[in-house]
Amino acid sequence: MCGIIGYIGSKPANEVIFDGLTRLEYRGYDSAGIAVVDKHKIHVRKDIGKLRNIRKLLLDEFESTSSIGIGHTRWATHGRPSAFNAHPHGDCHDSIMVAHNGIIENFMKLRRELAASGHTFKSETDSEVLAHLIEASYQGDLKQAVLQAVKSVEGAYAIAVIHKDHPDKIICARKESPLIVGLGKGENFVASDVTAILQYTRQVVYLDNFEGAEVSREGIKFFNADGNDVEKKSVQIDWNPVAAEKGGFSHFMLKEIFEQPQVIRNTIGGRTSEEEGKIYLEELKLTGPDIYRTQRIVMVACGTAYYAGCVGKYLLESLVRIPVECDLASEFRYRSPLVDANTLVIAISQSGETADTLAAVKEARKRGAKVLGIVNAKESSLTREVDGLVYIHAGPEIGVASTKAYIAMLTALTLLALMLGKIRSVLTPEYVQEKIRELKILPQQIERVLDRKDAIRDIAATCLDARSFLYLGRGFNYPTALEGALKLKEISYIHAEAYAAGEMKHGPIALIDHEMPVMAIVTESDVYDKTISNLKEVQARSGRLLAIATEGDHEITSLTEHVIEVPRVSDIFSPIINVVPLQLFAYYVADLRGLDVDQPRNLAKSVTVE
Ligand code: AGP
Repeated sequence: MCGIIGYIGSKPANEVIFDGLTRLEYRGYDSAGIAVVDKHKIHVRKDIGKLRNIRKLLLDEFESTSSIGIGHTRWATHGRPSAFNAHPHGDCHDSIMVAHNGIIENFMKLRRELAASGHTFKSETDSEVLAHLIEASYQGDLKQAVLQAVKSVEGAYAIAVIHKDHPDKIICARKESPLIVGLGKGENFVASDVTAILQYTRQVVYLDNFEGAEVSREGIKFFNADGNDVEKKSVQIDWNPVAAEKGGFSHFMLKEIFEQPQVIRNTIGGRTSEEEGKIYLEELKLTGPDIYRTQRIVMVACGTAYYAGCVGKYLLESLVRIPVECDLASEFRYRSPLVDANTLVIAISQSGETADTLAAVKEARKRGAKVLGIVNAKESSLTREVDGLVYIHAGPEIGVASTKAYIAMLTALTLLALMLGKIRSVLTPEYVQEKIRELKILPQQIERVLDRKDAIRDIAATCLDARSFLYLGRGFNYPTALEGALKLKEISYIHAEAYAAGEMKHGPIALIDHEMPVMAIVTESDVYDKTISNLKEVQARSGRLLAIATEGDHEITSLTEHVIEVPRVSDIFSPIINVVPLQLFAYYVADLRGLDVDQPRNLAKSVTVE
């Protein structure tokens, strides 16, 4: 995710900002920049690359010692990593500079309108429209211009804004993306998170949605969307810098689980048009003929990404009506796979560097297949081996056990399936419109599950001595059971096996006794009754039953020791909502067992060897 920092005080702004940006590096980025106001002139320097490689530009040879400025580290979403796409972004005359974190969903429409009224753009980004919107509204009052500008923005933003004629203030504002103000003595700060400014101040104010601030050396004036003053309380941050990187969570994995609502917003951001019932995947680069020629799809991936591919099978077969196979990349690459020009191979990878997946892609292309990559890491090796791309925009995933990247993969696969289903006339615009609406409320439904974390931890506490677990799911949620079992295995070191619930009677039922906890995903679906029958088989053998069930399901409580409820969603979204309690369950079992959740033994974040 992008990082923002703003400084106004008595020190050289670029030095304070550069230092702050280095503390935001853990968020991941591909370019960076700094802009300052100096004698009614803006000085801006930005480039692609890591801060250590552009230190000369931003620090050693920076041509101003001005004490007011803004800085940014960019994790590319719209527009490839490059110097001209790096932030801060200026208006037509570089009188205004903006650093932005978030996604402007309606930026194409805004860009067209601004260009039609004479604005000239220098980048491919969504963020640059903000600078031009402020320019179009500016009549001498920078705060009013920013307030007016953000009114036409749909999506998420945290912004810091400077103007060449206002050397005494930084204006900031936020909606969805986090933003804080740091209070110093004769100096004040704006930042994406406290990590950037802890070495200067521990007194911060968290802005709420649709709030902003006018930040000067003398103090800060907070305001709401109408520009009226609001009172804000500051808080004292007592985290150490490492804890601050985790946003106050005890592990990166837990922080990333809680980031998932925002991740879904980022993954869908700028890619859906509800009124048209259309999906836009700008890097897909598959032509109509490519899509019509496709007679079969093969998913190749490893680990969690493979399980995302298994969900993708159910999504694509259900919404696009094309046969889909899922293959472990390590198997696919050695099996002289039967693929050809009529096969679309979809390679899924968070890192884009997994050796088996890269090899599978090369094998597929050698045999004439079109390859689509579903990837998180920008400019990773996989992105250079494929014909088309769908970036998942999960932001950097630090925890070795994948959580938010998995949810982002599922979201991207859902967008892809809706898009292909519409193109192949399997889906109506009305159906796609309805699913876009449902997708947009999914983040707050996940927040309801996250609110149940304490109850989930209490359930986890009853399972710490289990020797082995059985996870059961059907249909869309058979892969959910697979992913839930992997999460438990890889961080708690308790053996866990996942089975299609209907398959249990063909052998695994012999394992069932009161020692064996069974985690069943049995939310509302057209296979609900069948799954209940399977659970009755477990109950009849004194198995310990835990269940993920739909809110208000009273039948399930008579069968189970514990139930974790999730909001009712359409079947196609159930893998997204149902995996969240399983992630939290695995996290708490591991944490309560005192294990290293973020760096489990024997595991690497990216398996770049065979
Ligand atoms: C997931 O929790 C694991 N860390 C692992 O299975 C991972 O999903 C797998 O190695 C694939 O990684 P990739 O998505 O970066 O290709």
